[in-house]
Amino acid sequence: MENIAEPLAAEAFPRVGGVLHCENVPMQELVARWGTPLYVYSQNAIRDRFRELDDALSPVPHLIAYSVKANGNLAVLRTLADLGAGADIVSGGELHRALLAGIPPERIVFSGVGKTVIELAAALSAGIYAFNVESEGELCALSDLACAMGTRAPVALRVNPDIDTPTPHAYTRTGHAATKFGIAAARARTLYSIAAKMPGVRVRGIDVHIGSQILEVGPFRQALDYVLDLAHELKREEVELEFLDLGGGLGISYEGGPRISAAEWADEIVPAVAATGLKLVVEPGRFLVGESGALLTRVLYVKEGGGKRFVITDAGMNDLLRPSHYSGWHAVEPVEPHGRARGHVDVVGPICETGDFLALDREMEVPKPGELLSIMTVGAYGFSMSSQYNQRPRPAEVMVDGAEATLVRRRETVDDLVAAEMDL
Ligand code: LLP
Repeated sequence: MENIAEPLAAEAFPRVGGVLHCENVPMQELVARWGTPLYVYSQNAIRDRFRELDDALSPVPHLIAYSVKANGNLAVLRTLADLGAGADIVSGGELHRALLAGIPPERIVFSGVGKTVIELAAALSAGIYAFNVESEGELCALSDLACAMGTRAPVALRVNPDIDTPTPHAYTRTGHAATKFGIAAARARTLYSIAAKMPGVRVRGIDVHIGSQILEVGPFRQALDYVLDLAHELKREEVELEFLDLGGGLGISYEGGPRISAAEWADEIVPAVAATGLKLVVEPGRFLVGESGALLTRVLYVKEGGGKRFVITDAGMNDLLRPSHYSGWHAVEPVEPHGRARGHVDVVGPICETGDFLALDREMEVPKPGELLSIMTVGAYGFSMSSQYNQRPRPAEVMVDGAEATLVRRRETVDDLVAAEMDL
């Protein structure tokens, strides 16, 4: 019996007797119970990543505010809440989920460029830890609202440090000046002075988030240096701060290379933060859950044409958007290898779009119809970005803890697809 222990992806998804498992459960068993396409999460992989980061940050008072957008399933949120995580939310819907999952409001930060008054009011009533404010307009709206509600809103300004961040795709870079995110560096100090005098606002921190899937420590350090300078200036101007929020963005391993090391990241960040005496907030999403997830899909047909071989699966871009939208690379593993010849294939879905693919020009054992494939490293921005495009009910989700598998979201039905519509 073969049981690969390293690295994490293999711990969470080992092969036992050649067959791919999630922790101790054979993938075919999960498919036999809940069908395909099926999202499967290793609960212990999530726990491991959280503990790794929590340990690395232990020298300073800190809050790990899990970025709910990466995977908002209630079971994922509860797993993290039980370990002491907070939440980074960007909508009223995410606030609702985070509170339902038992994340205490005093561990929630609210980011995003377009918060509505209704969303601001809900978060204010809930008593969240901080609003990461992204514009002067939002700051004024929040202050007015808080006054009307007879309270003060705890605020950090999200500043844009104008850093060119090395992320794999332009869509996931948020730290340079020409994005919609944050408050322009040149304007930050003035806006802090204004905020400090606003009746409905209590300045609590500084926030940055420079991008996603960053595998180097350098850009984080650059962002921190910017934040430290600003904190220093604000101190001179007697603006009291309680925390620094460095956002998310810690990268993981998609192709089997190293993920960013929480310890190395912390070595670069933590001593400088400790010297300020301020609390450190971080907002990781992908780092905590990305490697914990796999998407199981069944091969429907294999066909050749135009010099290509297409493996057509029952999962498509509506189930996993990353390959199409960000040219995201995900390993495609046979659940049960047969030792057949390898070849180059495009793994494509059933959606009526040429951009509907899970992997292009991939060298792998050529599967046969009926066989199962596992698309790896989809715990973050997998299900959470799925849609019902082409009127496809979204997949079920399963959480595995050791030998126990639990359905944590049932497969949608065709009735779900029309449930919110009204007949004329
Ligand atoms: N904080 C803020 C303000 C964010 O906008 C994000 C992600 C995070 C934290 C969490 O970032 P993470 O630690 O997961 O990198 N859908 C894309 C990623 C978009 C990230 C959006 N913001 C993907 O699949 O690559």
